[in-house]
Amino acid sequence: MKYLKYLFLSLIIISIAACSDEDPDDMMPEPMIELIQAAFTIDISDSDPYTAIFTNTSDVSGDYTAVWDFGQGDGEVTDMSDQISVRYPEAGDYTITLQITNEAGTTSASEDITVGDIGICTDGAVCTGLPALQSAAPFLVGMAVATNKFGDQKYMNILRRDFNSVTAEWQMKMNIMHPSEGVFSFDAADAIVDLAEANGMNVHGHALIWHSATPSWVENFSGSDEEFETMVKDYITTVVSRYKGRVRSWDVVNEALSDDAGHPLRESVFLQRMGPDYVKKCHQWARDADPDVLLFYNDYNIAGVESKRNAAFDLIEDLGDLADGIGAQSHININWPSAAQIQDLIDKTVANDLLLHISEIDVRTNTEDNASLSSLSSAKAEAQAAKYKEVVSLFNAMPTENQYAITVWGLRDDQSWLINFWGVPEWPLLYDASYQRKLAYQGFLDGLE
Ligand code: XIL
Repeated sequence: MKYLKYLFLSLIIISIAACSDEDPDDMMPEPMIELIQAAFTIDISDSDPYTAIFTNTSDVSGDYTAVWDFGQGDGEVTDMSDQISVRYPEAGDYTITLQITNEAGTTSASEDITVGDIGICTDGAVCTGLPALQSAAPFLVGMAVATNKFGDQKYMNILRRDFNSVTAEWQMKMNIMHPSEGVFSFDAADAIVDLAEANGMNVHGHALIWHSATPSWVENFSGSDEEFETMVKDYITTVVSRYKGRVRSWDVVNEALSDDAGHPLRESVFLQRMGPDYVKKCHQWARDADPDVLLFYNDYNIAGVESKRNAAFDLIEDLGDLADGIGAQSHININWPSAAQIQDLIDKTVANDLLLHISEIDVRTNTEDNASLSSLSSAKAEAQAAKYKEVVSLFNAMPTENQYAITVWGLRDDQSWLINFWGVPEWPLLYDASYQRKLAYQGFLDGLE
């Protein structure tokens, strides 16, 4: 009986406890927990082309677990940070997988990367096959760059992979850096120099003075000639000092020579306001601002037009110690200039103890039959490759101490300035519109053999 009483009491206690467990909330339907779709992006580190930065872009609200497999054989790693850096020092193909698990289940996302001879590539075409230009060439290989393309991962991959020198295509010219009186604007120039520094690249400054990039306030300068000269001196001093030790070389006065008979100095506001010594003055101010910077005289048709070549060397001779090198732009075509003309440029460079910069090379193909080509034929592509090969091979054979760099004027054919400049279709560069290397790229490499 005593035991029955205890049993009865126990039953009451248990049932009270059971009742009190029935929280009203428990009666409500469970909230729906949704599956989280795993997603991530891949960037390549600015400072190390072998380091991938993975950003977890999954919509992770609520509780979840993120498990990565970085494809290097280390198995799964639980890591909940938004960004993870992983280094891939060995060449090969890797598959990266991210799994996101929450109460509703698990989803996963995978991406492939390839590690090539100079780093990671997210696009197979860009990083397999031929060697990178900068690893193959014993001299600097440059590219004309612009910051509006810096967000393009493929562009950046190729730039970092193939090139170890940069020239600003337009963002280090006077109209950009000194757009109005008393105003300097260095945002784009800084971004270019920063990028080059982060990637261990050389920077060639282009161009302090150029008649085609002179801002209108300078063209219409309201002050006296003396004030004009002070303004130019101040501009050159400000710019060259700003990049002292960071920009290794400058084109000081771009295209100072005219194409008239005898190639006198081109009529420009600088000539008018400062007199025929203006080129020398500009070089002196640049030299004073950075005694270690290399100063170039840069112009077009230097190889192809003998009289202009001679005029350029005369101008440089006149500059004496204030000039270190000659920049031959090299906006050329598949038939011109000849190897002999290029060789003469090289011989004169060496004889004058100067550096040579093939500073803006692009090779036109569509120059015959009223520019009738509507696509790059294989015959023209081969001729173009042969011309690249010829220029590179002649440059490669010159004494090392006279070589500065070969700089290509852009990356992709469809972004070349020549298309607008001549108003006809053209394919003058080393990469096509889909970032594929052209025969011209192979031609460049062949020139190094
Ligand atoms: C060109 C750029 O390619 C264009 O994008 C820009 O609009 C104008 O200048 N000679 C030079 C280069 O020295 O600065 C020019 O570059 C091409 C001709």
